[in-house]
Amino acid sequence: MNIAVVSYSYTGNNDMFAACVAKGLSATHIKIATQKPMTMGSIIMDMIFARTPKMQPCPNNLKQYDLILFFAPIWMGHIASPLREYLHRLKSSPQAYGFFSISGGADGGNPKLFAELLKRTGTKPAIVLDQHIRDFIPQNSKPTRNDTSAFKISEAEASKLSTIAIKEINKLTT
Ligand SMILES: Cc1cc2nc3c(=O)[nH]c(=O)nc-3n(C[C@H](O)[C@H](O)[C@H](O)COP(=O)(O)O)c2cc1C
Repeated sequence: MNIAVVSYSYTGNNDMFAACVAKGLSATHIKIATQKPMTMGSIIMDMIFARTPKMQPCPNNLKQYDLILFFAPIWMGHIASPLREYLHRLKSSPQAYGFFSISGGADGGNPKLFAELLKRTGTKPAIVLDQHIRDFIPQNSKPTRNDTSAFKISEAEASKLSTIAIKEINKLTT
């Protein structure tokens, strides 16, 4: 099965997770970036005004893949805006896909995730995994949004998480 791992990351967590999964699956890893650098201000403006930033590479060469695994953070309860162009492409050109995220989880889960994927792509994801940073922080502490947003996962944590993700992905592909 020809699998593409497509990742966007602002502070590095989701790219690191995606890289471990891509390596474990021997999949192509496409790291995407905004044409203009994101700032905290542009993140907030994108989320409030539903803007879609222009990405590089543009999502033209995904047809060759049997499964696309997207990785991106959650911002303000929604999938990070830099993934929108890619998700939207699936609406006109449906393909099997999954979505993975390392998000903060300081306010609990991200309950709108599945509905947003369905709305943006027009089809249900084959797999969704939203891993919270809150779960990496000692359980008796009450991490704030600032704590979780500043947290960088270690390579060991990314590798451990990728083992769990790969196990689930293999269930889809075998
Ligand atoms: C502006 C902003 C808003 C955020 N909103 C959420 C949120 O609604 N839910 C959540 O679980 N995490 C939220 N986070 C935390 C990020 O999802 C988390 O820090 C993630 O690991 C960042 O991924 P990255 O390192 O790949 O950029 C937010 C972070 C930022 C900067």
